[in-house]
Amino acid sequence: MASKSSDKVLFFSQTSIPDKFEESCLKLDDFVKHQVVLNRKIILITSGGTTVPLESRTVRFIDNFSSGTRGSTSAEYFLQKNYAVIFLHRHKSLEPFYRHLNRDIFDSLELTSTGDIVVKHENKDHLAKIIKQYKTIEEEKLLLKLEFTSLGDYLHLLKATCERLNKLGTSVMLYLAAAVSDFYIPKADMSEHKIQSSNGPLELKLQLVPKMLEPLVKDWLPSAYIISFKLETDSRLLISKSKQALDKYKHQLVIANELEKRKREVTLVTSETVNPIILSEEDLKRGTEIESVIVKEVIKLHDNYIKSN
Ligand code: PMT
Repeated sequence: MASKSSDKVLFFSQTSIPDKFEESCLKLDDFVKHQVVLNRKIILITSGGTTVPLESRTVRFIDNFSSGTRGSTSAEYFLQKNYAVIFLHRHKSLEPFYRHLNRDIFDSLELTSTGDIVVKHENKDHLAKIIKQYKTIEEEKLLLKLEFTSLGDYLHLLKATCERLNKLGTSVMLYLAAAVSDFYIPKADMSEHKIQSSNGPLELKLQLVPKMLEPLVKDWLPSAYIISFKLETDSRLLISKSKQALDKYKHQLVIANELEKRKREVTLVTSETVNPIILSEEDLKRGTEIESVIVKEVIKLHDNYIKSN
């Protein structure tokens, strides 16, 4: 049986390096260098679900649930607080700022009799605010977006990013909101071409993905403030599982959320505290996003961490 650390080495050797990996690493190097000169705090936010391909030339895959709301919304609030954000997200999942341009965009626009397109009066302030923020972020080079699709892409890019953030000390934060698969098919066991239904029913054997939080906290980025997320569908398991994760991996914070209630209720769990955040009906009517409250609380915890280390 493989030892725990060789598990991880094996995983990386049994999954393909993502397309344009070198290019992503160069972008990371430039971005990190720029932020260090400006003495900015850096946060790596992961967002969206990972896929597990069934074939090398992938037609079919298993997916993990996540729209990218948590990650993209949180990114905007961290950017507002002048954090430099590395946004590692699933291709085509929600992104900061662009998330506001969903299909409702057509309801915000008007076609005039002369054929011009104008923003309706009642939507102007909202859109103007987003465009202004977006332009500032671009000018200040505060945001770097990197994309993944498969679980392999995600973990290769996560590791490469952590390696580049290592040695920057406590000013770095990790916010692991991506929904990460626990099972995969190693390259060697994968069919190269599309699996044929003419061969009859399909039986799949998936291998366990090693929990990468372990090397991440121990070796890849030991001094950063590390936040993992815990997703459960059974609320009775949430807090105990979060505590178990903190005990096992020794990171700083778990944000626990139940699938159905995740947009109005989360719990911040540290080794000493359990702090629920619950939006009221009034908050929801006002359009308060729970991420605005999460980010405020997380920044306080990060500041305390920096002071005490
Ligand atoms: O995007 P939305 O639709 O808004 O949904 C947001 C969310 C519900 C997906 C998000 O808030 C969330 O809970 N993300 C974490 C989901 C998840 O992978 O939970 P988990 O209980 O399976 O894993 C717990 C932690 O272990 C995760 O932080 C993950 O990064 C880590 N992990 C998981 C698998 C693995 N092989 N290695 C890991 O290190």
